[in-house]
Amino acid sequence: MAIDLKAHIRGIPDFPKPGILFYDISTLLRNGPAWQETVSRLADLVAPTAPTALAGIESRGFLLAAPVAAALGLGFIMIRKPRKLPGATVGLSYALEYGTDRIEMQADAVKPGDRVVLLDDLLATGGTMAAAIRLLREAGAEVPLSAALIELTFLQGRARLDAPFASLLAYDD
Ligand code: PRP
Ligand code: MG
Repeated sequence: MAIDLKAHIRGIPDFPKPGILFYDISTLLRNGPAWQETVSRLADLVAPTAPTALAGIESRGFLLAAPVAAALGLGFIMIRKPRKLPGATVGLSYALEYGTDRIEMQADAVKPGDRVVLLDDLLATGGTMAAAIRLLREAGAEVPLSAALIELTFLQGRARLDAPFASLLAYDD
């Protein structure tokens, strides 16, 4: 029988701010069989798109994208918060509700002809994923799929994405 992954994710009210229900994957990570099934189900979702590499977004996206890449025998690209990566980088700043944020990647991370699938733990407003898709495209990658473990469907983040998107678990509140 398939494991109910939602049963391993906690909703923590009022974190990080009052009124926000935070979906905490720590309990999923802490459970061996449930975590193994998460990685395997994400690998099954990603494999048919025939990627040449996977990319993950710091920091929780790394938890998912690196093991899925290894499970598929593919390399992994780090998309990081500013000033974390050595050498030449390319970056992109994007608007938040208040202020801006920025992501960076090493300039030689994407190779000619790469098809890069992007993975993050969670899609909320979609701002982070949309920026990462643009960054990969500007570096010359095709992005056949973007995917998240959790999608907060009520925020309609997928409408902001300029690439196909899939999630394993949808939450409507
Ligand atoms: C969270 C989450 C996603 C992003 C989703 O990351 O892990 O990356 O927000 O939000 P959005 O769809 O509205 O852009 P966060 O910046 O909190 O940091 P972390 O991954 O380092 O914990
Ligand atoms: Mg994140």
